[in-house]
This record gives sequence, C-alpha cells and structure tokens, in this order.
Amino acid sequence: MTILTFPKDFVWGVSTSAYQIEGALTEDGRGPSIWDTLAAIPGRIMNGDDASVACDSYHRYEEDIALMKELGVKAYRFSVSWPRIYPQGDGEVNPKGIAHYKRFVTKLREAGITPFCTLYHWELPQALQDRGGWENRATIDAFVRFAETMFREFDGLIDYYMTFNEPWCIAINGHLLGRHAPGITNWQSAIQVAHNVMVAHGRTVRRFRELGVKGQIGYAPDMYWYEPLTRKQEDVDAAYRAFSIYNWFVEPVFTGKYPEKMAEWIKSKGAEPVVEPGDMDIIREPMDFLGLNFYGGNIVRHKPGNNYLDLEHVDLGYAKSDKGWFIYPEGLYKMLTWLTDNFGPIPIYITENGVCYNDEPGPDGRIRDDRRIAFLRDHIAELGRAIASGVNLKGYLTWSLMDNFEWAFGYTCRFGLVHVDYNTLKRTPKDSFYWYKKIIRNNWIEL
Ligand code: NOJ
Repeated sequence: MTILTFPKDFVWGVSTSAYQIEGALTEDGRGPSIWDTLAAIPGRIMNGDDASVACDSYHRYEEDIALMKELGVKAYRFSVSWPRIYPQGDGEVNPKGIAHYKRFVTKLREAGITPFCTLYHWELPQALQDRGGWENRATIDAFVRFAETMFREFDGLIDYYMTFNEPWCIAINGHLLGRHAPGITNWQSAIQVAHNVMVAHGRTVRRFRELGVKGQIGYAPDMYWYEPLTRKQEDVDAAYRAFSIYNWFVEPVFTGKYPEKMAEWIKSKGAEPVVEPGDMDIIREPMDFLGLNFYGGNIVRHKPGNNYLDLEHVDLGYAKSDKGWFIYPEGLYKMLTWLTDNFGPIPIYITENGVCYNDEPGPDGRIRDDRRIAFLRDHIAELGRAIASGVNLKGYLTWSLMDNFEWAFGYTCRFGLVHVDYNTLKRTPKDSFYWYKKIIRNNWIEL
C-alpha cells in the first residue's frame, strides 16, 4: 500500500457549465443562444432532448451548493451564460442576469468555496450568430465587452476566470464536424473561428490586466494524448495531426505561433486563417494559469478519407466509458509533463476530468459507481506522479458535480458524482461522491 499525499494548498474541486445544468432558458430576460437554436432542430440532440429544464440549477443552486459543502470542495468551476448578461450579445445589459450570478456567487463564497468562472462555455447569443458568429471579428469586440462587464461587476467576488472552455470543440465540433452549435461543416470557417476565438481570449486577458482586476485569469482547452500504432511515417504523422489539432489552441498562447507542420496540412485542405497584424502577440498575452480538460487518449493510424484528419482510432482493448471513449490515465501524466517540458513550469489546474458511466440507483437507492471510483483513483495517481516529477499542478476539478445535459447526447451520458433523476430532479450522491469526499478531507490517497 502506498500513500500519496498532495501539497497543502492543493485545490480539489468540481466543474459544471451553465447550459448543462441551469434550465430556465427563457427566464429573467435571458436571450436565445445558438444551442437553443440547434436543440430546436429535430434530430440534432439525442432522443429529442433539450436543456429547458436540465438540472434546474437556476432555481436549485442553493441545494447544489449545500451538496458541494458536504463534499468539502475548495473550488467550483461554473460558467456564466452570456445571453443572460447580454440577451442580444451586446447592447443592453440585463440587470436580472447580473443579479442572479451575484446571488449565486455570494452563496458560494459563504459556503467557503472559491469560484472558478468560465466566461464562454459555448453559449453564443443567437443575435451574434445571425451576424456571422465567431467568423465575424465583431463578435470578438462583443465578447470583450461582456467579459469587461463581468470583471467590473464581480471584482472581488470571483477569484479565477477562464476565458474559453475547449476552443477545439467551438471550432471543430461547431464549425467543421457540425455536431455542435452552430452546426457548420466547413474547414475555412472552423479555422477562422479558431483564430478569432484565440484573439478574443488574448484581448480579454489584456483587458483584465488593464483594468487591474483582482484574481487570476487563464483558459481551459481540451487535449487528448495520441500515439501512433506503428513507427511508419504515415502513422507517426497521423498521430501528430491528432495531437496538434488540439495543440492548435495551446502552442500559440505560449509561443505566438500555430503548430507549423499542422498549419501546412490544414492549408492543404484549402483553409488558412486570416490573421491581422498584432493578432499573434495578442494571443500570447501571458495568463496566470493553464486549465486542462483531460478525458483520455487514443492509438491512431493513417487512413486517408476516414475522418477529418485522415486517420482512424485503433481499439487495442483499453477500457472504455459508456460513451465509448478510451480510458488512458497514463496519458494525463504524459500530457502534464509534455506541457511542462514545452512551455515551462506553468501553473496548471485540471479544469475537467471525469467519465460517463450510466449507473442507476439499486433497489436500495444507492448508486454503486465503482467504475467511476476506479477512473478517478487512477487519474489522481497520475497527478501525484506529475507533481513528484516537477509539474506545477495546482488543483483538480472533476467533471462533474452532477449528471447533466451532455450537448448533442442529451441526457444519455451521466458524468456526475451526484445522480440526477430527470423526472423528479432529485439529487442523490453516488458512491464516488463519498469516495471523493474522503480524498478531499484527507488530502491523500491510498494506492
Ligand atoms: C467537455 C465539456 O467542457 C463539457 O461541457 C462536457 O460535458 C464534458 N467535456 C464531457 O463530455
């Protein structure tokens, strides 16, 4: 038996996002977002689900905070819904939206939980999409204005900000694969959106500094660890492409350049971002920390025409989640050390890591999600290895506090430590909740 102890000030937490838990989509003056539009199109969300009620956290946030207090987390990562603050994306601010999040953040602080606030977790106001969305640079201006309103209104109330959640998903899922809102399928659109989102990120960080806002700012990209099936050059190149399409959003933040070979490959697909003078300097505006959303890894081989990267994922028999994602805890260690080797000892928070297992209550009402406990234990063990080897890891915020609306998958994927009955909205802590509670209390884990 080994005991792995974490640093004294290590931040244990949980994550969610507004659209996935709040519901109340038309309440208190919220404007429509691109996800409301997508969800209204038949066939776009599994089972015809939508987020109009979700976990009803807009009304039940005190219950959620009480659960977090019981869990003992030090931090809660949540997102603010842009169309609640600016129903039309820009123009008039909605005081009811501000008031709602002030009430919520105040309660959170009273519970002794540090707010980690994501400004953009995919809820673009529809009015901005009607004018070109992220392809239009005017959306960058609107986003910076929204961020500035948040900074001014919440100064001293929110300690940690993340500009964007998973820019890969915004650009590639939303504008190339069309699985996410706004459902576009075009390389040039995706690559321009990728660039504009990163410029919006850099400009927001810059504005944060100019205003002298208290607290810290970073962002939360998702990254997967990829390895080639063989050492054949074509497989090695395929793994490079798979890795670099995520790294497309990380490298420029530190170096001011997109991954070079990947840029050439994307150009061969007919796409190239329009970059204005000064953009790359803006993108690498220094942040305070890097958030990392990590879910797994894949073995890949070259397969022309197979997917958007001309490759396929090879199943070597690794365990899978109920969503079919490969589980690869060692990839977390590899990713953290790769980031440190390439960009120095940057402070890193794991802003998401979790797993979809659809365990339901047993006859006694208890939810025995042993597989989630094993997943968390194996990943937390890799964090210990990473810290021991010199990674400047500050905290771990697992996805998710509770089961919620999983985008195009609707309510079919449960990621929570807390089970949500979508008929009654009853919250029931799973076995993993009590397991994680113990880890947090002890600040060590037994391996
Ligand atoms: C990434 C996203 O940020 C979050 O919204 C999503 O629910 C989880 N991963 C699980 O897929």
